Amino acid sequence: MENIIIRPERESDYQTTEYLIREAFWNVYRPGAFEHYVIHVLRGDSAFVRELDYVMEQDGRIIGQNVFVKTVINADSGADVPVLTMGPVCISPELQRRGYGKKLLDYTLEKAADMKFGAVLFEGNIGFYGKCGFSYARDFGIRYHDLPEEADSSFFLCRELIPGYLDRITGVYQTPQAYYVEEADVLEFDRAFPPKERLKLPGQIFG
Ligand SMILES: CC(C)(COP(=O)(O)OP(=O)(O)OC[C@H]1O[C@@H](n2cnc3c(N)ncnc32)[C@H](O)[C@@H]1OP(=O)(O)O)[C@@H](O)C(=O)NCCC(=O)NCCS
Repeated sequence: MENIIIRPERESDYQTTEYLIREAFWNVYRPGAFEHYVIHVLRGDSAFVRELDYVMEQDGRIIGQNVFVKTVINADSGADVPVLTMGPVCISPELQRRGYGKKLLDYTLEKAADMKFGAVLFEGNIGFYGKCGFSYARDFGIRYHDLPEEADSSFFLCRELIPGYLDRITGVYQTPQAYYVEEADVLEFDRAFPPKERLKLPGQIFG
């Protein structure tokens, strides 16, 4: 892992980053991918944290990215507790599983902590994010919106950035609205990218 820098994303990077995200997510969670359109929408949303929009570069080429978005936990006390959510986050496919993702995560989470955000919650795989300080959100007493009580919530992760921030808080986390994109809009947006085959593969979590 040589000649790596992590720096704020610039507007002139947007197209490259969207291309990278499309490559990294393509056919992973569904046939094709939504995430390159999701980031496009997120950038225009008031909840998007511009100061925490980072890219990882190797020898001048963008090989990874991560972003954060503001949201809330609807606490059982009636209060809305401000927190962050994260992603899309990715590393270029040919460089995955070599430690780049952890390096990018550790760096950007530290920047989020520097900005005094209290906690990050999102949907992810504990196998990777557990290495970056995340644990199950249920262990913090936080529930995922619209998920029945008996359902498996092991995809829903949390990391406090301020130790104790979620002490004495229970409640329901809300995914920011901007993440909910329409498939038709994704397909229209995707037409500007090089054609790529959508495949139904084992392990995908969406139809
Ligand atoms: C997820 C992603 C960002 C991780 O980045 P990465 O550079 O591949 O991960 P790293 O090499 O830094 O992994 C760090 C640790 O997590 C583990 N890990 C990484 N990906 C994992 C996975 N999918 N499942 C289980 N463990 C994983 C690694 O084994 C490694 O631990 P180790 O070095 O002690 O063995 C990257 O693989 C990616 O872009 N994937 C496709 C897009 C995606 O799924 N994004 C996340 C959506 S929530």
